[in-house]
Amino acid sequence: MSESPQALVVFSPSGKRGRFALGTSVLEAARELGVDIDSICGGRARCGRCQVEAVEGSFAKENIVSGGDHLTPMGEAEQYCLQRGRLQPGNRLSCQAQLLGDVRIDVPATSQVHHQVVRKDYEVHDIELDPVVHLYFVEVEEPDMHRQAGDLQRLERALEKEWGLTGLSCDLRVLQDLQPALRTGRWSATVAIRNRQQIIAVWPGFHDQAYGAAVDVGSTTIAVHLCDLTRGEVVGSAGSMNPQIRFGEDLMSRVSYAMLNPEGAAQMTRAVRQAITELIGRTADQAGIDPADVLEITLVGNPVMHHLLLGIDPAPLGTAPFALATDHALEVWASEYDIEVHPNARAYVLPCIAGHVGADTAAVLLAETPWDRDEVSLIIDVGTNAEIVLGNRERLLAASSPTGPAFEGAQISSGQRAAPGAIERVRIDRDTLEPRFRVIGGERWSDDPGFAEELTEALGDQRITGICGSGIIEAVASMYLAGIIQHDGSFNPAAAARSPRVEARDRSFAYLLHEGEPRIYIEQNDVRAIQLAKAALYAGARLLMDHMGVDRVDRIRLAGAFGSHIDVTYAMALGMIPDCDLAQVSSANNAAGTGARIALLNRASRDEVERRARTIEKIETAVDPNFQRHFVEAMGIPHSTQPNPELSKVIDLPEKTKTQRAPRGRRRRRK
Ligand code: FES
Repeated sequence: MSESPQALVVFSPSGKRGRFALGTSVLEAARELGVDIDSICGGRARCGRCQVEAVEGSFAKENIVSGGDHLTPMGEAEQYCLQRGRLQPGNRLSCQAQLLGDVRIDVPATSQVHHQVVRKDYEVHDIELDPVVHLYFVEVEEPDMHRQAGDLQRLERALEKEWGLTGLSCDLRVLQDLQPALRTGRWSATVAIRNRQQIIAVWPGFHDQAYGAAVDVGSTTIAVHLCDLTRGEVVGSAGSMNPQIRFGEDLMSRVSYAMLNPEGAAQMTRAVRQAITELIGRTADQAGIDPADVLEITLVGNPVMHHLLLGIDPAPLGTAPFALATDHALEVWASEYDIEVHPNARAYVLPCIAGHVGADTAAVLLAETPWDRDEVSLIIDVGTNAEIVLGNRERLLAASSPTGPAFEGAQISSGQRAAPGAIERVRIDRDTLEPRFRVIGGERWSDDPGFAEELTEALGDQRITGICGSGIIEAVASMYLAGIIQHDGSFNPAAAARSPRVEARDRSFAYLLHEGEPRIYIEQNDVRAIQLAKAALYAGARLLMDHMGVDRVDRIRLAGAFGSHIDVTYAMALGMIPDCDLAQVSSANNAAGTGARIALLNRASRDEVERRARTIEKIETAVDPNFQRHFVEAMGIPHSTQPNPELSKVIDLPEKTKTQRAPRGRRRRRK
């Protein structure tokens, strides 16, 4: 042990070091050196956030001999925390442990205020925890007849003295709760402060529960992630179908419902708000907390969802020039949305980018940060209306493309939503034209042993019910690769001679994918619907590439639930997306939900996304004459004019031969 009246402290991982008088607490030393250690209770051994570990050993580089006994022994307060599980065995509370000698202190990530929340689910980057809402515990002077000052003023004085917080304002509802809180807490209280400016909640005594909800309102599903704002962890997740579906399957049918029914928009607004409240309630149950501890919400959604959620008429989004009520981010009381959480909770709605490129795309961009890359990224959120962003650190462009509902299984003869019983993967043998497929609810392929038994167990009598979006995309791509359909999407009459699965129908054919009950065919009209949808998507991406002046993209990210189910090789073989190194094409999973979570946990990200949203160049596909040209050329499978050098490296593409016509009057039915 050092003979010096001072002790050397070295903090890791920061490497910060300094000498302090014996008896200084480790937390004080850390504060002095600017080492980031968390605290809610202000050093009163109550929150357990300031944990550190004294490292044993001799460290030549730092020239220090460190040991746990170079700190004061554990006192009653630490023992109490240890017994209650608030202190990890082997750790110390830095607010309690005082220096007795030289020591090396390790600050674990969980004790750092701005620690990284590791995103296990996606690559890209982790989130630096710095939410807009923080909790502060304070002890407030009791009222004094001789020094008259209100409860709020004495609370503010304590916050300034203990936490350096000045210039605070206070919600009226906090003021209404303040007197009982201070008296119940025997002149101690915990307050929640938003943006280091606004007192939004008060609890008697010590309180360490603060939660936030990241809400992603999709036209088909709504997802909520409940996060612990003090630790950054997701503590509950829940999702449900968007109840607005009963008013219209896709966005435009909901807009027309709102236009045709005087109460239509209000009905849809009520439905979505109720669903969000229910989902937050479910996540709160999962986490075993009270929804009243939810102090902050972030909301993302496409422009129509955004308007309906806010109670704004979506009708102007249904016709050109597709004007948004606002494209700026919004911050309002959650109670204004009738969402039942803490009465003073605020809801932050991410900015929209353009008429059909919404706050969901802003959230995807926050998760993907294409602005940090030199390579050109193409980011596509596939839905009834594809939202497309192209660019890199130099420039970002966005557009939307009217793909229609075919990718969601609508307008397809045996199409259905992605739900148990739907065929989701399809392969067709190029020689025999026999299909194999996988069904949602099962793991096995249809030609695997035990396929039928597994499905019966998983789905009961329901069994196979139809084909969903990813299934129809793979089916059409596989039909092309197997020579069942031709480059222009028409059935190849020669295929009928190769397999009885290709059945003649009036002037065309249909491919029998599933023989059981119900029989599932891919018909000519199904192929056409998919061609129209994929051509719209491709043309939107191509138009952005024109504006950017590039002929190829370096990477492609497919966002949304659909993007995570799609097989990118088949999506490219179909011609949904431009040719690109397949190793660089991947799913961004639920990037919109991730973006909502980033905005919830990191306040600087809000400024960033607002700034970026303003600078993105918006390209309007509806009025650009080149869109139509790209659309027509993209009708071919994979494409009428563009080569596919990258795709050809991994898959044998059929030669683009002259289209063969079906012989007139040909009739052939499968027996
Ligand atoms: S600062 Fe709260 S327990 Fe140490």
